[in-house]
Amino acid sequence: MRGYVDLHCHWVADIDDGARTLADSAAMLTGLHEAGFDVVVATPHMRPGLFDNSRADIEAAFARTRAALPASPALPAVALASEHYLDDLVFERLMGGAALPYPAGHAALIEFPADMFPLRASACFYELRVKRRIRPVLAHPERYRPVWKDITVLDPLLDGGAVLLLDLGSLVGKYGRQARRAAHELLEAGCYHAACSDAHRPGDVAQVAAAIRKLHELEGPEEAEFLLGEGPRSILEGRVET
Ligand SMILES: [Fe+2]
Repeated sequence: MRGYVDLHCHWVADIDDGARTLADSAAMLTGLHEAGFDVVVATPHMRPGLFDNSRADIEAAFARTRAALPASPALPAVALASEHYLDDLVFERLMGGAALPYPAGHAALIEFPADMFPLRASACFYELRVKRRIRPVLAHPERYRPVWKDITVLDPLLDGGAVLLLDLGSLVGKYGRQARRAAHELLEAGCYHAACSDAHRPGDVAQVAAAIRKLHELEGPEEAEFLLGEGPRSILEGRVET
């Protein structure tokens, strides 16, 4: 069986709130490989005002970090994308080709504010899908306050072709009770297409491993393995059917 694919991880050093040192980067990747990931996509933040990174900044940091990784079979394959915070500027970059979708360009990772969805979120997702042929991958939906109240707030986005990416840490209480409950509801409703680490430092990896065990317990081996392997792989390869 092929290994797991992590579509959301902050292992690139010295660019945002992710890995602080090159040693951290190597430790995170080694740990995630031990947890079962054969591919780990780096997704540094593109978030104006907080992590003001352009595509060039992110590409340079990725190249620096990657060049410093030890040559080791204990490391997974790596690739680069970005976690795009959906505001006007980042949306413009996504539409104008100045953002960082997943390699091959079939999909892009998008994050919302924690407290409210952007007003034009559905319209932005639609434009991205139709005009750019980029599938929106919504990061950690279970961590957004509007979803805690009612998971059906996600329906217009799903109808527009978005896919939902579970943050594994939500299953083991990393973000509190409400995020855990929302994650359970979304799992039960079959809304997720993939699960990811969203790891920021080496200490996060133990929680990811525990959450993978929890996911198997909750969903059974077949669905758990889908969310960790075939689900993310189909997003990268543009084979999602919705
Ligand atoms: Fe993230």
